[in-house]
Amino acid sequence: MFILKINAGALADYKENFSKKNTYYFIAKNNEKIIAYLASELLGVSLHINGITTSPKYRELGLGRSLFNEALLIAKKLKCQKITLEIEPKTPAYLWYEKLGFRVEKVLPNYYGEGVEAYFMKRDVY
Ligand SMILES: CC(C)(COP(=O)(O)OP(=O)(O)OC[C@H]1O[C@@H](n2cnc3c(N)ncnc32)[C@H](O)[C@@H]1OP(=O)(O)O)[C@@H](O)C(=O)NCCC(=O)NCCS
Repeated sequence: MFILKINAGALADYKENFSKKNTYYFIAKNNEKIIAYLASELLGVSLHINGITTSPKYRELGLGRSLFNEALLIAKKLKCQKITLEIEPKTPAYLWYEKLGFRVEKVLPNYYGEGVEAYFMKRDVY
């Protein structure tokens, strides 16, 4: 485990990367309290995002984007071709990913249970 300071505006947060095998976590803290995280893992030529959350009162401050940018740097270092994820369609997070350049590659029927599909989204690493 290692900790690096990142510049996340006035919050002066930290990034922690708990590197288990092929797994990359990025955590933003404010006064030792975790306020945002991104969890990802290396799957073949993809860095796959398993989850990202910013604590509600810290949203729209650029933290999610900062964590994504850190994941993008790791993806480049790992020579990944793409970043991928599954997301429930038409949610705010889906729109957020679209804004970051992700596009729907395929629909996964019944992914979240009977009748609830997911979008498999992809963004090239650049
Ligand atoms: C999605 C989420 C992680 C975004 O985190 P955040 O820290 O608020 O994101 P940022 O502040 O970095 O947003 C970056 C940009 O996206 C915009 N944005 C934020 N939320 C948005 C939304 N719901 N829809 C569209 N754009 C959005 C911001 O305005 C900002 O735009 P700008 O750069 O033009 O100013 C956060 O809303 C969240 O935790 N949602 C609940 C959990 C979730 O659904 N996670 C995804 C599934 S695992």
